[in-house]
Amino acid sequence: MIRLSLPQKKGGVGKTTLIKILAEWFSQNKRVLLVDFDDQCSLSELYLPMERIGNGRHKRPPLHPDYTPDNEDHADWTGRSSSADIFYSTREIHEYGVAEFENGRLDILPADSRELVYVREQEDKKIRARIEEIIDKFFGSEGIADMYDLVLFDTGPNESPLMRGVIRASTQTIIPVELEQQCISGLDAIIGMVIEEQSRRSKNHPLELTALQINKYRKQLSLHNGLLEQVMNQERLSQYVSPIIIPSRVAYAERDVRGLLPASVFQLKPSDPARKIAEDWCKFVESKLFPKETADA
Ligand SMILES: Nc1ncnc2c1ncn2[C@@H]1O[C@H](COP(=O)(O)OP(=O)(O)OP(=O)(O)O)[C@@H](O)[C@H]1O
Ligand SMILES: [Mg+2]
Repeated sequence: MIRLSLPQKKGGVGKTTLIKILAEWFSQNKRVLLVDFDDQCSLSELYLPMERIGNGRHKRPPLHPDYTPDNEDHADWTGRSSSADIFYSTREIHEYGVAEFENGRLDILPADSRELVYVREQEDKKIRARIEEIIDKFFGSEGIADMYDLVLFDTGPNESPLMRGVIRASTQTIIPVELEQQCISGLDAIIGMVIEEQSRRSKNHPLELTALQINKYRKQLSLHNGLLEQVMNQERLSQYVSPIIIPSRVAYAERDVRGLLPASVFQLKPSDPARKIAEDWCKFVESKLFPKETADA
């Protein structure tokens, strides 16, 4: 089973947008689980009618469709399920079904902002280390491997035990990059986090830095071209840069609005450039994540 994270400390680079594109591509012929560890809940909101609580400050998942309050088996269940539940050994995990296809499906374990903020803000070093361990153990378990071919993690910006736990639980990482000075300056730090994790892995449990993924590229901007050149001139960065550069296009941003149709970039006309680039990018990621299947096809 492949577990992919898109870590980035810089906000707004397109983590959630890119995860949504990958989820829609891979769920057509694989069992895909989305896990939202971001207390902004943006990924969850794309797929579920999240409920606002605490005077609107927080968001939680809706009642699960399988929940029946009269069912004795559900007596200990609140009827909701979120990624924060994995930190409580007494809670059962109930993923929410999003879409089913003949050969694949898409499920999500959504975020619960109040609970994730509580987890994220733990300051005790031992508790923080424990959070990382729990994420790794839960998603590396046989139960998850039996149910899914691919797990995609979304995290919020800023370093936290949640981001480190997700990197620890990953088999692959794609680092999204925006061609803005702040993002480029922070690249070494985020690559460093991945390399540090790689160095603690055993040979039979590797972590791959699959790609640096340039997103929101605007070819008419000299700033973007200058920074792209800077990245490509540094071997320690350029060796990872994905061959597919994702441009800034309204079509991608529009797909991030719940209820706006078509909901997926893959439902746009086959000739639509935004769809074509997304397909090329997903095929590239597929060749990295599932090399054997791609070679056989
Ligand atoms: N290639 C693109 N072209 C146009 N707009 C994009 C593109 N990628 C992302 N966006 C838009 O940029 C904004 C930020 O993207 P997104 O929410 O995916 O970033 P993020 O890294 O998940 O942010 P955060 O750090 O807050 O979680 C969104 O409005 C999204 O629709
Ligand atoms: Mg996001």
